[in-house]
Amino acid sequence: MTNTQTLANPIAERISRISESSTMKVAADAERLRSQGVDIVDFSAGEPDFATPDNIKQAAIRALEQNFTKYTNTAGTLELKKAVCEYHTKNFGTDYKPNECIITVGGKHIIFNLTQALVNPGDEVVIPAPFWVTYKDVVNYAGGKCVFAETDEDKGFTLTASMIEPYLNSRTKMVIINSPSNPSGAVLDRSEFEDIFRLTSERGIYLVTDECYCQFLYDSEPYSIASQPSAKETVIVAGSLSKTYAMTGWRIGFGLAPAPIIGAITKLQSHSTSNPTSIAQKAAAEALLGPQDSVKIMLAEYRRRRDFVVQRLREIPGVKCAEPRGAFYAYPNLEVVLGKNGIRTTVQLAERLLSDAKVAVVPGEAFGTNQHIRLSYATSMKELERGLERIHEFVVANS
Ligand SMILES: Cc1ncc(COP(=O)(O)O)c(C=O)c1O
Repeated sequence: MTNTQTLANPIAERISRISESSTMKVAADAERLRSQGVDIVDFSAGEPDFATPDNIKQAAIRALEQNFTKYTNTAGTLELKKAVCEYHTKNFGTDYKPNECIITVGGKHIIFNLTQALVNPGDEVVIPAPFWVTYKDVVNYAGGKCVFAETDEDKGFTLTASMIEPYLNSRTKMVIINSPSNPSGAVLDRSEFEDIFRLTSERGIYLVTDECYCQFLYDSEPYSIASQPSAKETVIVAGSLSKTYAMTGWRIGFGLAPAPIIGAITKLQSHSTSNPTSIAQKAAAEALLGPQDSVKIMLAEYRRRRDFVVQRLREIPGVKCAEPRGAFYAYPNLEVVLGKNGIRTTVQLAERLLSDAKVAVVPGEAFGTNQHIRLSYATSMKELERGLERIHEFVVANS
């Protein structure tokens, strides 16, 4: 079946409001070439190259052996909800209760569910740019309007409260913050985060904090805005175990929010996925409350790679790269090749990097900026060395 096939009856209008995830598209293009025997260096996937730690896998095996293989409550097991609340208290000093928690099928699922549960057609959602691709599509899907707030590349894409304030008005329903950021690795300073919280809470605007990369910080301590007094009224935490514990395939995320919002999301979830996989929930409880050494080991390795990638990118003539302070992405500026040899956009740049240099990267346009590409350094040093050499040669040949 091809995309051009004429249907007897059209696809619903709401599907035209969203586009295919560009990160997944690049990964699929790279996979297609790889299956044809082409030697591709893949920097596109936002996926740890580490195995899921053994204690977590053992918990899943035990769950299977004990036949923990049936439906659970739609919003997740009480055991896992308690584990999430305890983890959040231990790490950030919050005091969520299980009725303020929902377990979802990955972090993406809580972002989707909460936007569908809260955003009405015409509501505005403020999103700092560059942004993770999914925010835009899920807000559009709900009929909301995305309002993008620029950040300052010269200051490492950092965000300040004064960059958000001009966009807040009576139509603003929520602000979505992702710190550390995918794609830039920027980390929001605590005092600026608190100022943004003050701006949103006094106006009754929801502040969504996507804590997907919260444990991967290179020069600051893990922090949650949900620890602020009275944050529980307007802050919504979107969490994921995917990156922290190298569990992307297990599909476990969570939300922490006022109980009525959890109730609305549970209603929605009860008619779509129902509960996340029972076995994965057992493994997730072990991940959150078991030994945390593996997280430190991964962070140390990501730091080593971050240092290498940034230094290597900065060696390429004309390439600028802000230093990522968290997560595992670099977001270099490749303006130097734009307008040269038929490369006008970063989408074309990513296509040419794939076809000519055999390196898969994600174009910055997917994240709301026009001169960048995103490189994930969640891959081996050997691949980083090979891929950066290829990018260097490509840029020199095309600038
Ligand atoms: C910023 C951000 N939030 C949430 C997620 C969701 O992760 P998952 O659905 O795999 O748990 C991702 C994944 O790439 C992400 O980058």
